[in-house]
Amino acid sequence: MSTDPNLAWMDGRRYLQDEARQVPKDNSDVDRWTSMHYLWKLANQKNHFCPLPEAMSSCLDVGCGNGVWMMEMASAFPGCHFVGIDLAPEAPTTIHPRNCTFDTGDFLSGAGLPYEDESFDMVHMRHVLAWQTPSHADRLLDEIVRVTKRGGRIEIQEPDTILRSATPGIHLTQYNNAWITLMKQRGLDIGLTRDLREPLLQRGVEASYCERISNPVGRWGGPVGGLWIPEAAGVLKVMRPRLQPVLGLDSVGYDGWVEGCFNEFERCRAYMDFYAVWGTKQ
Ligand SMILES: C[S@@+](CC[C@H](N)C(=O)[O-])C[C@H]1O[C@@H](n2cnc3c(N)ncnc32)[C@H](O)[C@@H]1O
Repeated sequence: MSTDPNLAWMDGRRYLQDEARQVPKDNSDVDRWTSMHYLWKLANQKNHFCPLPEAMSSCLDVGCGNGVWMMEMASAFPGCHFVGIDLAPEAPTTIHPRNCTFDTGDFLSGAGLPYEDESFDMVHMRHVLAWQTPSHADRLLDEIVRVTKRGGRIEIQEPDTILRSATPGIHLTQYNNAWITLMKQRGLDIGLTRDLREPLLQRGVEASYCERISNPVGRWGGPVGGLWIPEAAGVLKVMRPRLQPVLGLDSVGYDGWVEGCFNEFERCRAYMDFYAVWGTKQ
């Protein structure tokens, strides 16, 4: 068992000690994020939303996790050096494109991101900001803008943490209420990721674009919607230790409740919104 002070254990699964995200950080979670990456890519038919110059020479991926996004981008842009930073990077240590470097670091440490001002042509961050408290998010955005070159691009891809549906459903409402309770307990703001244009503009990142992408969850939404079902099952599984007590259910009750959620994914036409925001540093 790891003695890394950043890691904590609960119900036999490994978690990041201080991360407000509340999901495990272990091998099966690496797999979950890998399949999430490919599903997200399939849904969007791309890895990045902002137009990027062919001549881009440096890119930072903040909270790079398993590094899959970076490794795909490194193959698409062989002339660009990609740097990933994560509290606990899960990227391959040796077998990866040569133009990738994975650093270990805490973007919330006193020193912030361990890079000089204006170091990167592009800074990318995905699925990281939603799990930061508002004050940490402010600090992180300051840091991201600081390390981006003038004229460089910033792109942030984040989920809306609420599950939406065309018609209301009891289980989906219970899920959202429990989720909001958990988010509030951790000091997180459920609306933080909904429009990041203003926070970027305030930091001198102009012509910021925000795209809302609604992803169907359930077979009602065709092949992509069907592929979201195992992802949703994964979330309900990893969140079980946290959701079950908030919902006031025992283990058997939770299993039945999950089944109810799956029925409502189809009947109520559930979907999740994601946001991609990008702009250019002036
Ligand atoms: C949900 S994962 C997303 C990973 C990756 N960006 C992706 O899209 O697959 C969030 C990542 O942020 C990292 N992270 C969270 N807090 C961090 C911090 N303070 N400093 C550095 N990385 C952090 C976590 O370790 C985790 O790998």
